[in-house]
Amino acid sequence: MRKNFGMKTWIYPMPVLILGTYDENGVPDAMNAAWGGAYDAGKIIISLSADHKTTKNIKLKKAFTVSFATIDYVAACDYLGIVSANDEPDKLEVAGFTTSKAEFVDAPIINELPMSLECKLEKITEDGNVIAEIVNCVADEDVLDERGLPDIDLIRPIIFDPAAAAYREIGEKVGDAFVEGKSIE
Ligand SMILES: Cc1cc2nc3c(=O)[nH]c(=O)nc-3n(C[C@H](O)[C@H](O)[C@H](O)COP(=O)(O)O)c2cc1C
Repeated sequence: MRKNFGMKTWIYPMPVLILGTYDENGVPDAMNAAWGGAYDAGKIIISLSADHKTTKNIKLKKAFTVSFATIDYVAACDYLGIVSANDEPDKLEVAGFTTSKAEFVDAPIINELPMSLECKLEKITEDGNVIAEIVNCVADEDVLDERGLPDIDLIRPIIFDPAAAAYREIGEKVGDAFVEGKSIE
């Protein structure tokens, strides 16, 4: 027997994306977004509510960064998802994060999160989906493998379980993509 749950946005896994923006005075903000992912080639899509400070900042600066929440900063990243800069202007500082300006867009990089995408706004659809071009991906050298590529075991990003409203860690590698299926061809 299977149990029906009706309409649920339960997709496994969902990411824990941290969107970094500047306001009109150059004050950094960041928020937590799980409703987002890869779109087309070199683009990202995120469902954003209109009332977030982040949404206003993105409209203003036409730019944002996307960092990946990590195991070391679970509480701080959750805080970014439950408190708005509309109410707490020093939100990032209160969370314990520091920032530096991104090299290719007018948006902040969160220094404590080791990997970020720098994004330029392409459009906001009428139902509030932000679509942006990824103009750069930047990672701390500390989280690169011997080939010089980002190593997920060193980055230690977390994922969001929407049914349980929980954050989870990513497990062990279980196979090579585009390769494992050949064994049953
Ligand atoms: C796990 C989690 C996922 C979230 N995902 C989204 C999302 O995808 N889109 C969205 O608009 N808000 C999402 N939120 C809510 C925002 O992060 C939250 O409202 C935040 O306070 C907005 O901050 P700001 O007003 O400073 O931009 C999420 C919150 C949490 C805790």
